[in-house]
Amino acid sequence: MYVGLVSSATTPPRPSNRVLVLFGATGDLAARKLFPGFFHLFREEMMPEDFRIIGSGRHSPGSDDAFRQLIREAVRNHGRGEPDEDWEAFASRLSFVASTADDGSELAAAITAAESEIGAEGERLVYLSVPPGAMRDMVRMLGATGIADNCSLVVEKPFGHDLDSARELNATLHEVLDEESIYRIDHFLGKEAAQNILALRFANGMFEPIWNRDHVAYVQIDVPEALDIQGRSGFYEQTGAFRDMIVTHLLQILGIVALEPPSRIDAESLQLERTKLFDAVRPIDPGRAVFGQYDGYRDEDDIAEDSTVETFAALEIYVDAWRWSGVPFYLRTGKAMAEGRRTVTIGFTEAPLRLFPHFAPGEVTRPSELIFELSDDPQVRIEVQAKIPGPVIDLGRAALTLDIDQAFGDHDGLEAYEKLLHDVMLCERLLFTRSEQIERLWEVCAPVLDDPPAAEAYAKGSWGPERARGLPGALGWRLPDHDVVTD
Ligand code: BG6
Repeated sequence: MYVGLVSSATTPPRPSNRVLVLFGATGDLAARKLFPGFFHLFREEMMPEDFRIIGSGRHSPGSDDAFRQLIREAVRNHGRGEPDEDWEAFASRLSFVASTADDGSELAAAITAAESEIGAEGERLVYLSVPPGAMRDMVRMLGATGIADNCSLVVEKPFGHDLDSARELNATLHEVLDEESIYRIDHFLGKEAAQNILALRFANGMFEPIWNRDHVAYVQIDVPEALDIQGRSGFYEQTGAFRDMIVTHLLQILGIVALEPPSRIDAESLQLERTKLFDAVRPIDPGRAVFGQYDGYRDEDDIAEDSTVETFAALEIYVDAWRWSGVPFYLRTGKAMAEGRRTVTIGFTEAPLRLFPHFAPGEVTRPSELIFELSDDPQVRIEVQAKIPGPVIDLGRAALTLDIDQAFGDHDGLEAYEKLLHDVMLCERLLFTRSEQIERLWEVCAPVLDDPPAAEAYAKGSWGPERARGLPGALGWRLPDHDVVTD
C-alpha cells in the first residue's frame, strides 16, 4: 500500500508513462533542484518506465543537444554526484520547445507527439516555474492550447503578492483546471524532517496528550539563513523575507506542528485539518512583528540605494483554537544571519514547583524543550534537566537525541523536491497546499503587509535587529544554542 507518506511496500511505486513539461527549464530552480531531482528519481527507478521531459521557455538554448548539455552541467553542479552511465538514457528523453504566453502551438503539438510515442496513459505533468507576473497569462495559454487537458499542474510560490492577487491567480487557475489537478509546491513540506513531525506526533501516543495549551508554553519556528540574497536582487526587491519565507514556508511548518490529529493520514483528511487550522490563525499584529535589513544589502547589484525591503522578519502569532489558546508561536527568518538552521522548538510548561536547590530564586531558565532540526541530517531532541553525576544533587541541561541518519542509516531519503515531484507523478496530494489555505494565509498576513514595520539595520552574521531578540520575552530565542538563559 502506498498513500504518499505511508508505505508498507519495500520498493517505491512507479508512476505510469507520461510527458513532463517544464516551463522555466533554463532557469535557476530547474538547474538547482528540478533536473537534478528528476535524474535522481530516474536512477532510483522512480520515474515512469517511459517518459519525456520537454523543457520550455521564451528563449531556446539553440538545439536539443545544447539543452541537454545545459542540463548535464546543472546535474553535475547541483546533483548527487557526476552524471554517470545512466545519463545518456536520461538525456535522450529531454528536448526543448520554445513557447510564450501568446503562442504555445508548437509546444502543444510536441506534447501530443511525445505522448503517442511513449503510449502515455497517465496525466501529463506541467510545471510552471515562471515569474509571478507571467503566471496568469501562461495558465490561460495552457487552457487555450489544450495543454491543460488531462494535466497535473505544478505551480511554484509565490502564489500571488497579496490576498487580492492570490485570489486572482486562483480564479485564473480554476478557469482552466479543477483544484484537484493543481499542485502548489512548498518544498518545506517535502523535507524528510517535516514529514517526521507528522510521524512523531501521530504514530506515538506519548506526545499528543501534552500537545496543547496546558503543557506547551511556546513554539518557535526559526529559520535563520547564513546566505545573503545570492544575486537574486530582482526577485528579492519584489518579494522580501516576509513574503518569501513567512507567508509560505514558516506558516506551512506551523500548519504541521499545530494541526489537529486527522482521521486518516491521507490527503483529504490532512487538507481538511490544515484548512481548519489556518482559519483559526489570528491575523498578525504588526506591533508584534520586527523587520530588518542587513548592512550592505543596498550595496548589492541592482538594489535601490534607498530600498526599504526587509531581509529579516520575526513575529508572534496566535492560533485561536481550544488547543492553542494563549500559546505564542514565534517565527523568525533572515538572510546573512549568524547560522543557517531550520529549527522548530516546542517549549513545555515548567514543573509546578522548583524542588531542587539548583535554581536561584527568580532565575529564568529554559523549560524542557522538544526540538526538531529540519536539516538534511534530521534530528529530534528533547532537552531536559538531569542530575549531574556527583555527591550532591546538581542539575544540568541534557538532551535525548534521535538522529534519523543513525537510526535508519541504510535508508536513503529523498530531497524535498525529489519527494514532491515523485508525489505529483503519483497524483498524491498529501504534501501540497490548497487555494483556500493560500488565501487564508494572505489574509492572516494582510495587517503586516498593510502596515509593515520599518526594516531595522542588522550586521551581517548577527542574529538580526536588537529589537527582535526580545520578542519572545525573557527567555529569548532557542537559537543560538545555549544551555541556560538568565534574565
Ligand atoms: C526558497 C526561498 O523558497 O527557500 C529562498 O526563495 C530560501 O530565499 C530557500 O533560501 C530555503 O530553502 P532551503 O531548502 O535551502 O532551506
